[in-house]
Amino acid sequence: MRTIVDTGTYGEYLHYGMPLALVTVVGMDGNVNVSTNTSIAPLPGDKQRVALGVLKENYTDELLNQNGEFVINIIPPELRSAAQQCGTLSGRRVDKLEVCNLSTLPARFVKPPLIKECPLNIECRVVGIHDLGELNLWIADILAVEVADLWSNGRGGVDLETFDPLFYTFGYTMTRGPLVGAGGL
Ligand SMILES: Cc1cc2nc3c(=O)[nH]c(=O)nc-3n(C[C@H](O)[C@H](O)[C@H](O)COP(=O)(O)O)c2cc1C
Repeated sequence: MRTIVDTGTYGEYLHYGMPLALVTVVGMDGNVNVSTNTSIAPLPGDKQRVALGVLKENYTDELLNQNGEFVINIIPPELRSAAQQCGTLSGRRVDKLEVCNLSTLPARFVKPPLIKECPLNIECRVVGIHDLGELNLWIADILAVEVADLWSNGRGGVDLETFDPLFYTFGYTMTRGPLVGAGGL
C-alpha cells in the first residue's frame, strides 16, 4: 500500500534531503542580503548551471531583479541558528549579517560576497528567469566554486571525509552519514 503524503503549505514536506544554503545577493546601492534557501538544483551539461527557487515576496527576489548575481554558501552544522534566522527574518527590516554575526569575503566574479563561515561557496550569474507565479526560478551560470581549507582535499576538490553540510529533510535538519560509494553508485 502507498499513502499520499501531505506536503505542507510551503512544500516543506517535499524536501527529501537538500543541502541548506545561505544565499547572498546585493542591491543596486550595494546593500547585501542573505537568506536561507533549500530549493537549489545543479543542472548537468557542458555549461555548469544551477536553478534557484525564490519566492517573489522575499527581499532576495527583489535584489536579484536589481543585480542578477548570487552566491550559494553551503551551511555547516554550527550555523544552524543562523540558517533559522536568515530563513525567518527579512532583509527589508533587519541586517541579517549583523544579527547572525556573519562575516563576508569578496567574491572573485560577482558582487555579492561569500559568507566566510560557510566553507563552500558557489558564485553564480543569472542567465534566465522562469516566472512560476508566486515563485521565480532563477537559472544561473556557475562562475566559481570555492572551498575553504576545512573542507578542501588540497587537490582542488572537496574532502568527502570532512565535508559536513546541513540537510533540510521533511521539515527537519540533519547532518550526513558515512560515505558509501563513488561515482554516484
Ligand atoms: C529551512 C528553510 C528553507 C527555505 N528555503 C527557501 C527557498 O528555497 N526559497 C525561498 O524563497 N525561501 C526559502 N526559505 C524562506 C526564506 O529564507 C525566508 O522567507 C526569508 O525570511 C527571506 O528573507 P528575505 O526577505 O531577506 O529575502 C526557507 C526558509 C527556511 C527556514
